[in-house]
Amino acid sequence: AKDTKDEDKLYRYKGVLYPRLMCPEEHLKVLGTFQAREDDVMTVAYPKCGFNWMVGVVKRITDIIESTGVKPESKGAPLIEFMGPDILKDLAQDPSPRVLGTHMHPDNIPASFYAKKTKMLVIFRNPKDTLVSYYHFYNNNVVLPTVQSWESFFSDFMSGEVCWGSYFDHALAWEKMMDDPNVMIVTYEDIKQDLIQGIRQISAFFGFSLTEAQVQHVAGESSFSAMKARATNTHGVMAGVVFRKGEVGDWRNHFTPEQSKEMDEAFNKHLAGTRLGAKLRY
Ligand code: A3P
Repeated sequence: AKDTKDEDKLYRYKGVLYPRLMCPEEHLKVLGTFQAREDDVMTVAYPKCGFNWMVGVVKRITDIIESTGVKPESKGAPLIEFMGPDILKDLAQDPSPRVLGTHMHPDNIPASFYAKKTKMLVIFRNPKDTLVSYYHFYNNNVVLPTVQSWESFFSDFMSGEVCWGSYFDHALAWEKMMDDPNVMIVTYEDIKQDLIQGIRQISAFFGFSLTEAQVQHVAGESSFSAMKARATNTHGVMAGVVFRKGEVGDWRNHFTPEQSKEMDEAFNKHLAGTRLGAKLRY
């Protein structure tokens, strides 16, 4: 990817930008035929909302459930759009529960997840911190183009011209699914405030019962510092940027007052009065 020119790194599929190296068209084309299982453990997030954090949590929970101990962490982000035909074939042989994830818009998640009523944990994050995290991610990731400037990335994010599309499109689509018993929406901010409670809710949602000691153990392993300490093993060269800062409110170090106002206006226009919007106050 280092040799790939910036202008070739992204492409559009059905109107939305994707990183060509990770999700080429052949991956997205076969997604429609993905065979989900009722007991798949699925995590969904718009990019930079805390996906790797929640995947880390569910991996720790499922490891405890599958055995009495804790297995070494498996590598990589289990994004179904990164897999492609060969890996998908192997995945079909994997024992349950499979830990899977996606950044796809809910309308583009394979239909079998809905047909099988697979439980989906969705994590959202306030748009200002999401934008900041995304900006750093673009600039420290060889599969993505280096952004020209903070200002240009800001306007690309606001208009949805970033990988996986518009933050607001995703938020509005999930908002409509808040009452679906197979969907649980959590926020980065709530989990940050009370990780232990979050772990209790997440394990209950997936139907796993953990003892209080196991909940405490998962929380200890899922703190920012614990995950960052393991990140070279779990995320290789991406360690530093996936586990960058891990805080609420870093946007204050980046946004101008005008940009903050513009985001507030967009947020209000799209999400004011919605239940998801109420959960995302920043
Ligand atoms: P920052 O860039 O603001 O630090 P994703 O996994 O969806 O790409 O999201 C990445 C963001 O989640 C990064 O935000 C990262 O630091 C944060 N993050 C990852 N693990 C975390 C943890 N255990 N606790 C808090 N934040 C975490």
